[in-house]
Amino acid sequence: VSATGRSPADVLIDGETIAAVLAPGSTLLGHDLAASVDRVIDATGKYVIPGGIDAHTHMQLPFGGTSASDTFETGTRAAAWGGTTTIVDFAVQRAGERIQDGLAHWHELAAGNCAIDYGFHQIVGGVDADSLAALPGLIDDGVTSFKMFMAYPGVFYADDAQILRAMQVAADTGLLTMMHAENGPVIDVLAEQLVAAGNTDPYFHGVARAWQMEEEATHRAIMLSHLTGAPLYVVHVSAKQAVEQLAWARDNGQNVFGETCPQYLYLSLEDQLGASSEEWGAFEGAKWVCSTPLRSKHEGHQHHMWQALRTNDIQMVSTDHCPFCMKDQKTLGFGDFRAIPNGIGSVEHRMDLMYQGVVTGQITLERWVELTSTTPARMFGMYGKKGVIAPGADADVVVYDPAGHTSIGVDKTHHMNMDHSAWEGFEIDGHVDTVISRGKVVVDDGTYLGSPGDGRFVKRGLSQYLV
Ligand code: URP
Ligand code: ZN
Ligand code: ZN
Repeated sequence: VSATGRSPADVLIDGETIAAVLAPGSTLLGHDLAASVDRVIDATGKYVIPGGIDAHTHMQLPFGGTSASDTFETGTRAAAWGGTTTIVDFAVQRAGERIQDGLAHWHELAAGNCAIDYGFHQIVGGVDADSLAALPGLIDDGVTSFKMFMAYPGVFYADDAQILRAMQVAADTGLLTMMHAENGPVIDVLAEQLVAAGNTDPYFHGVARAWQMEEEATHRAIMLSHLTGAPLYVVHVSAKQAVEQLAWARDNGQNVFGETCPQYLYLSLEDQLGASSEEWGAFEGAKWVCSTPLRSKHEGHQHHMWQALRTNDIQMVSTDHCPFCMKDQKTLGFGDFRAIPNGIGSVEHRMDLMYQGVVTGQITLERWVELTSTTPARMFGMYGKKGVIAPGADADVVVYDPAGHTSIGVDKTHHMNMDHSAWEGFEIDGHVDTVISRGKVVVDDGTYLGSPGDGRFVKRGLSQYLV
């Protein structure tokens, strides 16, 4: 299955690359194919797809007074289990730090530890003369996109003037600007007022992060993109009004793109409000504290988001994998939702969760591959090597069994370093049977065969999605 069609075929892998995609029954230099190769993986009745590309992860991100609980080792192994063979993680530069140092540190964290291939985006948490001057050099480093934050004042926040200057550099160089589009200063006031009034439960995180402030920030980013000519990629879009902004900008001919995440397709603010457990009481809702937040199901965001995946108003699905345990991590915000580390862990389940959209008739099989692999590869300058099964491409291949079944839960399918699952109880029609990462079988129907260091840094080119 590719982004453009499906057909019965044999895929021939030689070393780390795809050698050929052949009609069933083809011979190799006159010899029967099966007799000429070292190993045959029988995928009869199953889908053979390019390995998943999760273009938004935060392994071991220092954030919210702690660090994301998956290391590059545990997080990439979990990704492999779930049929993802490439991640693009975010290297961090904070205000006062050098971009080069932040990137070098991320290379140190990842090198030798990853089970699958990995690339980096650069978080620019401090826009100043120094970091602006360093941005163009990222292209030679194979880091061709950078993220700024209109949210999180005092942490990664950039004001409009800083965003303008960084976008001007992006427009000049071809770097792709990624934006966390939420009006942080307004959200922080709303959050402060909620807490002052005694509304401290996790649910109020989503109340404070009003959709109006996602729509507004998305619009502001779009206009700055229009003004500067810098293409814009809005991360973790959850509000239908933000999608409408993206659609409007695209209809105006702008190079504006959006990503959503499984949590915004399946989970709602009401799920979070209703969550309660013996262990945590209403604090159970902390498991789903992420930004942008889960949105109300009464406002129709989830439905609109699926539609946007069909109409291409939203181009791709990443996880924003940013896991925190309840114990000693999420509990930092017990009694004050503002101190709950933001993030959900999903890197293991994205391919399965999105396949459910095929099962329920919301997206086609081809669109599933496009949203989870092919477009991420094109958007972030990896296509040809990644995102496609074709001669010369890296042999990143997943055999997916539509007749299989996957039960998600901490005591079931769970390899992420978390003490809970945000997806507990989800039953998946389908199963990741075999995962091949650059020619090596890393998951073989329930057995893990990979090792840390299998994964290599992917030097990315400029986006291949831009016209
Ligand atoms: O809740 C989230 N999204 N945590 C990770 C940081 C970010 O904003 O992507
Ligand atoms: Zn963000
Ligand atoms: Zn993120």
